[in-house]
Amino acid sequence: MRHKVTLIAGEGIGPEVATAVRRILAASGVLIDWEEIEGRTDSSQDQGQVINEAAIEAVRRNHVALKGPMATAIAGGAPSVNVALRRTLNLYANVRPVKNLPGVKSRFENVDIVLIRENTEDLYSGLEHEVVPGVVESLKIITERASTRIARFAFEYARKYGRKKIHAIHKANIMKLSDGLFLHSIRAVAEHHKDIEYKEMIVDNACMQMVLNPQQFDMLLLPNLYGDVMSDLCAGLVGGLGVVPSANMGDESAMFEAVHGTAPDIAGKGLANPTALLMSSILMLDHLGERSAARRVEAALDKVYREGNHHTRDLGGTTSTNAFTDAVIAALQPK
Ligand code: NAI
Repeated sequence: MRHKVTLIAGEGIGPEVATAVRRILAASGVLIDWEEIEGRTDSSQDQGQVINEAAIEAVRRNHVALKGPMATAIAGGAPSVNVALRRTLNLYANVRPVKNLPGVKSRFENVDIVLIRENTEDLYSGLEHEVVPGVVESLKIITERASTRIARFAFEYARKYGRKKIHAIHKANIMKLSDGLFLHSIRAVAEHHKDIEYKEMIVDNACMQMVLNPQQFDMLLLPNLYGDVMSDLCAGLVGGLGVVPSANMGDESAMFEAVHGTAPDIAGKGLANPTALLMSSILMLDHLGERSAARRVEAALDKVYREGNHHTRDLGGTTSTNAFTDAVIAALQPK
């Protein structure tokens, strides 16, 4: 079957890692027609943070997108194009699988956790104002609708991918109303999914438990802010943002993206590690129903890492983006 996929290659190292992924997927034999499009209308990376409406339309039309990183101004400037894309397309579930790669040095072995983060509300609603000079207020929005929706997504994901246990992460001891509503909504959904073990943990304890004994966790279900923080914390357990994928899922569309940034320090030098975007593309293949291609690309990537001769510079090696890509292609088993 042929698939049409929107490709937003992004900025900085984005085009380099996107090219690598395209080459590997083409070699895997999966038939993808890429519709490549810029993520913002103004290609200047420092200003002009204007989202390209045509990119949104392309994702809506094709229902699936692969996206590289895009730069965002810090403290001021226009809002993030990455966040705007997720919000505009109503990609309410952020999925972050975190798993050891063989041969990648990390603090822990046998980590295998999937984080499901609510992507649309909480303190990320962008509702901030200055009450009086020197005092600002940011609104934390939690709704029963969005909490129930993300809970259903998480429990159904657990069933689909054979996961056994979900920890809901919260601070409802302090934020009794907002995080309380998040928990109540999840409990109601958990009642209908008795085959999945359901637990709750306060976020500060969860962070400590995560760095002491990450193997106790199977899936985490989190509101937006704790999800953002804990997903990077978890990535750090297995080697960092360069070796973990992510997916942003909605009812209509799905966008798969690397979680690292544009890496301006190495952009254009052929040094970028395409692993994160490649792993995101494996999630995309599963989503497209291309299970066999997904497993073959996964096995090839695994083989390259297990052999340990093709580490890019971020992982202490000297292999270029192109040479790494060639190695993965060479490791692909025939169909
Ligand atoms: P960054 O992830 O771009 O870079 C941090 C460090 O990791 C750098 O030393 C970089 O060379 C290295 N690195 C990152 N990805 C790599 C890869 N694939 N291969 C090899 N090395 C890699 O983070 P930074 O510097 O904080 O952000 C740069 C820009 O990226 C900012 O404008 C930021 O807003 C944006 N950004 C975009 C994201 C997205 O599009 N989802 C996510 C994170 C940051």
